[in-house]
Amino acid sequence: MIRILIVDDEQSIRHTLSRFLLKVGYQVDVAENAMMAKQMFESDPYDIVVTDIVMPKMTGIELMEFIRLTDTKCRILIMTGEATVETAARAVAAGAHGYLNKPILKEAFLACIETNVHAVESNKQKEKIDFQKDQYRNLLENTVVENTETLKRSMSSIIHLLSDVTEYRDPYTSGHQRRVGNLACAISRKLNFTTEFSNMVRAIGYIHDIGKIVVPSEILTKPGKLNEIEYKLIQMHAQSGFDMLQHVILPKNFSIAVVQHHERLDGSGYPNRLKSDDILFEAHILIVADVVETMMTHRPYRPALGVDKAIEEISTYRNRKYHPEVVDACIDLFRQDQYTLDDSLGEIHIPL
Ligand SMILES: [Fe+2]
Repeated sequence: MIRILIVDDEQSIRHTLSRFLLKVGYQVDVAENAMMAKQMFESDPYDIVVTDIVMPKMTGIELMEFIRLTDTKCRILIMTGEATVETAARAVAAGAHGYLNKPILKEAFLACIETNVHAVESNKQKEKIDFQKDQYRNLLENTVVENTETLKRSMSSIIHLLSDVTEYRDPYTSGHQRRVGNLACAISRKLNFTTEFSNMVRAIGYIHDIGKIVVPSEILTKPGKLNEIEYKLIQMHAQSGFDMLQHVILPKNFSIAVVQHHERLDGSGYPNRLKSDDILFEAHILIVADVVETMMTHRPYRPALGVDKAIEEISTYRNRKYHPEVVDACIDLFRQDQYTLDDSLGEIHIPL
């Protein structure tokens, strides 16, 4: 319902105009001066205010200026018996939507009110549509956020599943991928990479040996020394991991780091004998984490060698086989921060 306020210090005008409006079904209030109108507007704003200009204590223009401080939508119509260009200009400058000369004729008055009622109604309709659009946009945004979260969680669970599947084939190295992933993440953090990058490195670590699925389990679990063919078959796991991940929707660096996790800085690694800058930094981190974890834990063919032996290995071949910055960060972790291998499931990040 459109609410209209008529403000005039002449009782007859208030009475006449309000009767015109009530007869055609509008909801109308009257105020005998601008101060009273101000209070009424403050307690419950009106859609249309029809005000006289010259009134004691507070003028219609001052009332309009007050309304405009808080309300830009209220339609304000000015009426006066002293129509001058200056008065009209000031009224428009203060935000008036119409100007009525006294004496006010019924038809002209109602036509003016009707025009402004239409304007109020179309404003309200537009606000309603804008509100619905905002609600719909918010709903869509929330849905996108929820779906993205679900997608991230489902990708994380697939990484964890892949990690477990590899270790079912090779129970003697149970927890190896998780320990490598967690150590790689800690090295990455030590090198001041972002949490997201470090959690992504952890995710790659969790599946870096996925290619072992294609290696016969009797070779994976063989307690003695491997012959040349068996060793070649084991080495295939890096390339097989890459090939398998080609069919999975994951960022490219996942499969590349997986195929590179046995390369060495000096080109002595496998499968592609890559050197330094041809190896992804994610892979450089995994290479060190993989070597250290492997040496520190028990294998079917030998007992655990311990942290000192592992550090000796990466120190000896620092800048030859292993990236120097990664080696330094890894040594700091164990020597300064007393890092211990950890096979719990940590948070992972997969860029979408
Ligand atoms: Fe490996």
